[in-house]
Amino acid sequence: SDNLIIAIDGYSSSGKSTMARRLAKAIGYRYIDSGAMYRAVTLYAMQHGFIAADGSIDKAALVSALPEIKIDFKVTPDGQRTQLNGKDVEDEIRTLEVSAHVSPIATIAEVRRALVKMQRDMGESKGIVMDGRDIGTMVFPQAELKIFCDASAEKRAERRFKELTEKGQSITYEEVLANVVSRDHIDETRDESPLRCADDAVRLDNSEMTLEEQDRWLLDLFRRKT
Ligand code: C5P
Repeated sequence: SDNLIIAIDGYSSSGKSTMARRLAKAIGYRYIDSGAMYRAVTLYAMQHGFIAADGSIDKAALVSALPEIKIDFKVTPDGQRTQLNGKDVEDEIRTLEVSAHVSPIATIAEVRRALVKMQRDMGESKGIVMDGRDIGTMVFPQAELKIFCDASAEKRAERRFKELTEKGQSITYEEVLANVVSRDHIDETRDESPLRCADDAVRLDNSEMTLEEQDRWLLDLFRRKT
């Protein structure tokens, strides 16, 4: 049948991106990581001195710079790489420093409005899997399939810690756990499209699931929709 829009939302490091990426590959859809877009805006703000040492944000400066920010994804054999104004920033946006600033940046209504518009434009042709926090509730409330992912904070921090140390970042498990907990809190309590499970989303707690079990579960769900 026709191409669908698939929305995968959930908590930080709940495995959403891995899940979304693998599903998109299996069914030949385009994958879009909306979190990477918030991370790219955060990196831009850091590079332009809009974030002070104490973490406070020069919101007015950032909001007026928004029209200058262009984000896209380059498809490579190793997966997608985020481009900020034509420059590859995929590695830079994954650092704990960007993770530490991204959730406050994502509370800014103007930032969200700009990114939601870009995300909707990317979804125009359908046949996409997009992951994030507000995809099923705000970006694509009409999505045909919505998943909401969760797992315990400890489990999620463990996975994230493993991922980051494998990439050579020197961090502790405690730092990663603190970041996960703090982002969840900011994401859930912000005024502008807070993280919540859409009424028509299917919930998944993948704490005890292997990647293969997750793939099977998701493909099964997808097949029932088509
Ligand atoms: O998905 P990821 O953990 O990379 O997202 C980074 C941050 O971007 C989240 O903690 C959240 O604050 C913000 N975000 C958001 N809405 C989205 C995707 C991400 O607010 N759709």
